[in-house]
Amino acid sequence: KFDIQEFKDQMIAQIKTDVGDREVICGVSGGVDSTVLAVLLARAGVKVRCIFIDTGLMRLNEAAEVKVLFEEVGVPIEQIDASEVFLGALKGVTDPEQKRRIIGTLFVEEFWKLADDVELLAQGTLYPDVIESATSGSIASKIKTHHNRVDRIMELKSQGKVLEPLAELFKDEVRALGASLGIPHRALWRHPFPGPGLAVRIPGEITPERILSTQQADAIFIAELHRSGWYQHVWQAYAALLPVKTVGVKGDERSYEQAISLRAVISEDAMTADWVELPYEVLRNTSNKILNSVKGVNRVLYDISTKPPASIEWE
Ligand code: XMP
Repeated sequence: KFDIQEFKDQMIAQIKTDVGDREVICGVSGGVDSTVLAVLLARAGVKVRCIFIDTGLMRLNEAAEVKVLFEEVGVPIEQIDASEVFLGALKGVTDPEQKRRIIGTLFVEEFWKLADDVELLAQGTLYPDVIESATSGSIASKIKTHHNRVDRIMELKSQGKVLEPLAELFKDEVRALGASLGIPHRALWRHPFPGPGLAVRIPGEITPERILSTQQADAIFIAELHRSGWYQHVWQAYAALLPVKTVGVKGDERSYEQAISLRAVISEDAMTADWVELPYEVLRNTSNKILNSVKGVNRVLYDISTKPPASIEWE
């Protein structure tokens, strides 16, 4: 019979063996996968540095929330503000794959800049990440480049310098593992957030103003989902900012502003997804708050696309 405690102990023992006395560097984002990974490494008692890189593409107040979470689980982390580097490199870039490559490459560069004598990079890669960007034999292979599968990482992998202990697991298994490690419920049941962050929710050019509008709309939507009790019934929800301006009225004046698209989906493993029939009240409250308080937005849409053919994210 499957026993999660036993599985956890086996994983910790395996990590100890795989790492030996090498120093591990582990990127943390506050998401389920990297949090479980960081706690596993800490419990394995290996030499580890956990690093949170603020790309400037995180959700509102994310850095502060991540700090609190890791204090709670008792794992020290270093927080680095690299937003200028990321946003500088993304300036003028609109192609989705180019955005992903830039972000993925910069992640690795930032890590190695911090500690170039580090011998091992740990990543919270899950099984679906592996198959969606496999290099051969899979229909999904050309769908999109996941940020943790860019060329530089493949090179490090071939040198045996990448540790991915979660690579055979699905999300629900990682959550069960996290619970057995004592990670708080709210962190384990937080909606998934993509590695490239808000970049994949801002089709078109990424600017500080557009990031702020997206963050504010997203925070309003998520707060409304919590308030209404819908957050835990939804697998993933977020606000995206569309690369389009449309005409509206504000006061007595014509406005010509941006549009926010809300998305809420249910899914088993992110391979397929269905949109959620949220109550009109939840959508109405969210829309009213966004239109009243997010600068430069005069239209709110609700995304009713299944995956496939749409993906969960916009890019
Ligand atoms: P898509 O948009 O492919 O998303 O339907 C499926 C799930 O994967 C997340 N996602 C990512 N996660 N790195 C990640 O760690 C990535 O590059 C990435 N791209 C998408 C997405 O949020 C959804 O949960």
